Amino acid sequence: MEFNTIIEPFRIHSVAPLRMTTQEDREKYIQEAGYNLFSLHSDNVLIDLLTDSGTGAMSRNQWAAIQHGDESYAGSPSWIIFRDAVQNLFPFKHVIPTHQGRAAEKILFTALGGKGKCIPNNTHFDTTRANVEYSGAEAFDFVIAEGRDAANLHPFKGNMDLVALEKFILEKGVQNIPVVMMTITNNSGGGQPVSLENLHAVSDLCKKYGLPLFLDACRFAENAWFIREREAGQQDRDVVDIIREIAGLADGMTMSAKKDPLGNIGGWLAMNDDALAGICRNLLILTEGFPTYGGLAGRDLEALAVGLTEIVSHDYLKYRIQSTAYLGNALSEGGVPVVLPIGGHAVYIDARALLPHIPALQYPGQALAVELYKMGGIRGCEIGTVMFGRKPDGTEVPAAMELVRLAIPRRTYTQSHIDYVIEVCMAVKESASELRGYRIVQEPAALRHFTSTFEPI
Ligand code: F0G
Repeated sequence: MEFNTIIEPFRIHSVAPLRMTTQEDREKYIQEAGYNLFSLHSDNVLIDLLTDSGTGAMSRNQWAAIQHGDESYAGSPSWIIFRDAVQNLFPFKHVIPTHQGRAAEKILFTALGGKGKCIPNNTHFDTTRANVEYSGAEAFDFVIAEGRDAANLHPFKGNMDLVALEKFILEKGVQNIPVVMMTITNNSGGGQPVSLENLHAVSDLCKKYGLPLFLDACRFAENAWFIREREAGQQDRDVVDIIREIAGLADGMTMSAKKDPLGNIGGWLAMNDDALAGICRNLLILTEGFPTYGGLAGRDLEALAVGLTEIVSHDYLKYRIQSTAYLGNALSEGGVPVVLPIGGHAVYIDARALLPHIPALQYPGQALAVELYKMGGIRGCEIGTVMFGRKPDGTEVPAAMELVRLAIPRRTYTQSHIDYVIEVCMAVKESASELRGYRIVQEPAALRHFTSTFEPI
């Protein structure tokens, strides 16, 4: 018999306490934090859905692997185990370990970016865009139109707009495009997957113009699971097979191992090009460390190698995608507007639709995120005008979407935690018309969402 309840395919081995707070406490904490959720003490957060990055629970086999870590500066056996685990899924010739994803981005764009260069992506994640721009290059997003429409039910809303990409290549000239990026899944666009067909088409287009294709592959296993579930002819394949096919379409990748590789820290940069790898390794030595450990300890490398074997379990991926959908569908059915279909690692509430009375430049996403914390101690993350509104030329422009992301740490919360989140979201929806916007009091030069302070209007 098949049963409907989605059970967590693991049992709890070690626990961390949650601290209960009152609404009155939380109003004080968030005011002291300048209404910036990144500035809260996490002991004062009940359900932390700020990010799925590095916040997951490791398995007992990962903890055992930590003990096995070898801390030799050069040529550690832990490095070999890690490299082999990466190449088993992503058979790129060169694997360069880094302490997290943005370190890989910094190295790649230092090598390839610079003034006059243009880098297309389906949608750049915030640190990816920031690293492109910091190098002096320009970042461009070409996700399909359906991917910008929160309610559209297209099964692969992370897909690249091929017509727009080709037009861009012809306009800018191949000599000015050092790399084409594809983010799987498309985090900033709602955690939406990219189809295998679209990946093939982008790869073909890159080959036609002689451009290298790099994956920003943080959530590769979730993306591969969506392909298996949704794309014609993929239902009988092992996800490992799908992942290898995706890797075979690209020339390299950047990776945050804090997501699907089930690590608390880590990342890598991988590629086939020998000359580029040489440049990147030299940059790595400048800032991250020797090429057999990057910014990581041997024990971290071992934990990641085990994580890479656990993430491709079909039982895990089925639970992961279904349990995220459980939250998203409950909110949607309860009348909370969310990005549909539900993405892999997070549910994205459409703050523009929920709070139509708050103008974009008064940050409806921020208003909603603050209210979720005040009401229920839930910490989500604004992905809207606060995150993307400030342009390199200093102007402020509303973002394409005003979202609040509830990201689900891997293997961390149970269904009763999620049922509580649903209850709190419903209560916030009831009081939506009373919420007011925010203004920014203090703002840094870049990536302002991390450290700006706000006040209610
Ligand atoms: N690319 C994507 C698509 C990401 O989602 C992230 C991180 C990075 C690159 C950078 O990796 O954090 O290891 O340096 N995303 C996290 C998030 C922070 O909350 O979505 P990192």
